[in-house]
Amino acid sequence: MPTAGAAGLHSRAPARYTRAVRKRIGISTGGGDAPGVNAVIRAATLGSIERGWDVIGIQRGFAGLLDVNDTVVLDRDAVRGITNRGGTILGTDNRGHPFDERVRDEEGQERVVDRLDEAVKGAENLGLDALIVIGGDGTMKLAHRLYERGVPVVGVPKTIDNDLAGTVVTFGFDTAATVATEAIDRLHSTAESHQRVFVVELMGRHAGWIALYAGIAAGADIVLIPEIPFHWKAVFRKVREREAMGRRFAIAVVAEGAAPCGGEPTYVPVKPGAAERLGGIAERVAQAIAEETGKETRSLVLGHLQRGGVPTARDRVLALRFGAAAVRIVEAGHFGTMVALDPPDVRTVPLVEAISGMKTVPLDGDTILTARELGICLGE
Ligand code: F6P
Repeated sequence: MPTAGAAGLHSRAPARYTRAVRKRIGISTGGGDAPGVNAVIRAATLGSIERGWDVIGIQRGFAGLLDVNDTVVLDRDAVRGITNRGGTILGTDNRGHPFDERVRDEEGQERVVDRLDEAVKGAENLGLDALIVIGGDGTMKLAHRLYERGVPVVGVPKTIDNDLAGTVVTFGFDTAATVATEAIDRLHSTAESHQRVFVVELMGRHAGWIALYAGIAAGADIVLIPEIPFHWKAVFRKVREREAMGRRFAIAVVAEGAAPCGGEPTYVPVKPGAAERLGGIAERVAQAIAEETGKETRSLVLGHLQRGGVPTARDRVLALRFGAAAVRIVEAGHFGTMVALDPPDVRTVPLVEAISGMKTVPLDGDTILTARELGICLGE
C-alpha cells in the first residue's frame, strides 16, 4: 500500500475536473453513522481550507448529490467544536440503494430507476474537483461506481462493525467496543447478585469484532460471533460448568449476526417488502438456556447505544488522521482510493480492494486463541 501522499499509483482526475487554482472539495457521509465521522469532516475541511480550497458538505449521504440544493458550505465555523460530537453534521442515509431507486408504475409494478447518471451530473454541477466519501462497505461500493464514471473520489473508511477490508481498523469500532465493555461490566455485578444468566446482543452483522473485543475485555463466559456457527450444547455446557464450580451466574455476548450450526441468523419481523433487519438472537439464546438449564436468564439488546455519542480518544485521533490524509490524497490526485490504517501509517488502498470482501475475525488469529485460553466458550 502506498503511504498517504506518496506518488501516484492511481488515476488522476479527468480533464473536466482539473482546475488549477482554487479547488472545490465535496464531503459526503453515507451508511450508518459512527463516532468519529465529524472529526473526519473537521480535519478534511481544515486541511482543505489551509490549502486555499473551498469545501461543501453534501447532505443526507448520496441523496444530496441527486439534489444539488442539498449542500452546505463548510468553513471554519461550521466545523468548530465537532471533534467530540457523535453522529454526522451532514446527515446520512443507509436505507436502500440511492442509485437504483425502486419505484412503482401506474399498474403497481415495481421497477428500478438508475440514478447514477444524475449523481454524476450532480457532482459535475457542483463543480467538484474531488469528492471525499466517508462510509462503510456499502458506501464504498457506491463511491466506486461514481469513480468508474469519472468522479474523482477518495474514500474514508467508517464502521463500528470494523468489517471493511483494506484497513486494519475503522474509526467507530473502538468507541462501540468500549461502550459495550462498560455495559457488560455493569451486568456482571447484578448477574452475580441475582445468580442469573444475562445474554447481551451487540452489533455486528457479518463480523463479530465488537462482540469478541467487548466479551474478552469484560470477561464474558460465552461469546458467539457470525464467523463461528455455534453448537447449542457447548453453550448449555458452559452455564452448567460454572454452576458446578459455584459460579452461579454467567454472561453471554452474542453478535447480532451469530447463528447456530446448521441454522439461520435471527431477524426482526418486518412488513412485507421492507428490508430485512437482524435482531433477536440474544432472546433466542436466553430462552434456550433457561429451558435447558433451569437458570433464570435475561436478554438485552445494546443496539444504537454502541453507535451514538462521543468517540473515544483513539477514534478521534484516527478519524482526524484519516480526514487529513484524504486531503493529501486529493492534493496528490490519487483518486479511486481509500485511506487505510496500516500501523503505524495511514496509507491508501484502491477502492476495488476495499470492496472486494468483508474483513471478518480471523479464526486462526491470536485474539480467538486468547479467548479460548481464557476459557471463554465460543460455541465450539
Ligand atoms: O453497519 C453498522 C450497523 O450499526 C450494524 O452493526 C447494524 O446491523 C446496522 O448498522 C444497523 O443499521 P440501522 O441503524 O439502519 O438499523
